[in-house]
Amino acid sequence: MRILNLKATVFALVCGFAGVAAQAGVTITVSCGTVGQDFEFCKKATDEWSAKTGNTVKHLTIPQSTSDILGLFRQMFAAKSTAVDVVNIDVVWPGIIKEHLLDLTPYAKGAEKEHFPAIVANNTVGGKLLAMPWFTDAGVLYYRKDLLTKYGEKPPATWSELTATAKKVMDGERKAGNGDMQGFVFQAKAYEGLTCDALEWVSSYGGGSIVDASGKISINNPNAAKALDTAAGWIGTIAPTGVLNYGEEDARGVFQKGNSVFMRNWPYAWSLSQGADSPVKGKVGVVALPRGDGGKSAATLGGWQLAVSKYSPNPKEAADLVMYLTSSAVQKDRAIRGSYNPTIPALYKDADVLKANPFFGDLYNTFVNAVPRPATVTGVKYNEVSAAFWNAAHDVLSGKARGKESLEKLDGKIDSIRRGPNW
Ligand code: GLC
Repeated sequence: MRILNLKATVFALVCGFAGVAAQAGVTITVSCGTVGQDFEFCKKATDEWSAKTGNTVKHLTIPQSTSDILGLFRQMFAAKSTAVDVVNIDVVWPGIIKEHLLDLTPYAKGAEKEHFPAIVANNTVGGKLLAMPWFTDAGVLYYRKDLLTKYGEKPPATWSELTATAKKVMDGERKAGNGDMQGFVFQAKAYEGLTCDALEWVSSYGGGSIVDASGKISINNPNAAKALDTAAGWIGTIAPTGVLNYGEEDARGVFQKGNSVFMRNWPYAWSLSQGADSPVKGKVGVVALPRGDGGKSAATLGGWQLAVSKYSPNPKEAADLVMYLTSSAVQKDRAIRGSYNPTIPALYKDADVLKANPFFGDLYNTFVNAVPRPATVTGVKYNEVSAAFWNAAHDVLSGKARGKESLEKLDGKIDSIRRGPNW
């Protein structure tokens, strides 16, 4: 009894001190995403940081699409808004919003060296470390193991194989009574997600990466046109026409309900597909995306970083939160429970991480060799270039133009976006 009382007193004292600290602490507003389990996992970690530091964390509600988030942040930054301290930054943004972010070098104290050097380099502009790597991403192919076995098929290595297998299984399942069955779902809404998917098709057909590393506009070529025409052939055949308005979560909704043979998505969809309430739990496999005829498999490099707004009234605490959220311990927890790819190479050798996500090991090369979008070379113009590309791809997918015609127009459009011979 006495021991219990003593415990209670100690507990009360600790809580009392925490209470005092909380009053003395500051409030940090963080923006961390709303796709899948983004909010839930971010909140868990910010709660831990609050309990540790006595500071309060508020969460900013943001849209789902990265293109819309960028629009929101650009408005807030233009107004030098103090309404957000810590911002989630897409891998393609450092060059676009660089002047609004704090240099984290003094706060990181070398911790960035634990992360993939290429991501750190991407986040470093003009010698300033503008964001800490939080998780990395690469497009992968999800497939229904049970259905491929049932129809005697293997995961496809080429887009032609994917098309044939998707059709065979979809037709068979429809005949067997599932009228909602689709062959393949992906992201084809006119937004940044389509840039990612279409770059994978183009690159896997040997069509390059829109603008090459030297700044030359390279997208107007026959392989790229063929890739887009091939993808257009999926619409209304193996993919629903609704895919023209699908983002990541729309595709996941269909696949996770059990209504698609294949899905292109990012790794976050894995842990959700294996959740207790998922109709496809135990029935899903993950492989590298197929290759085009004569090309090789390509995954677009995605991923998110955390940065501190220059207009934050509490940069020291905000930076401390960034360092906590991007730490190895938090990344490990997010990898195990949320299948977020760590940005720390050592975690790809961690037994618990690999057990929860077997494909992190199998597809390690896919993750480290993912194809970057041309964000570094186009700098502040990246979003305009990407928008021109996703619109050109959308025109082909929706049957408004053929690949060749659309890419010829795109070439001129990107040229007019370019400021001078070297961007
Ligand atoms: C994922 C990727 C990000 C990409 C976005 C497109 O969030 O991590 O880099 O821009 O998808 O929708």
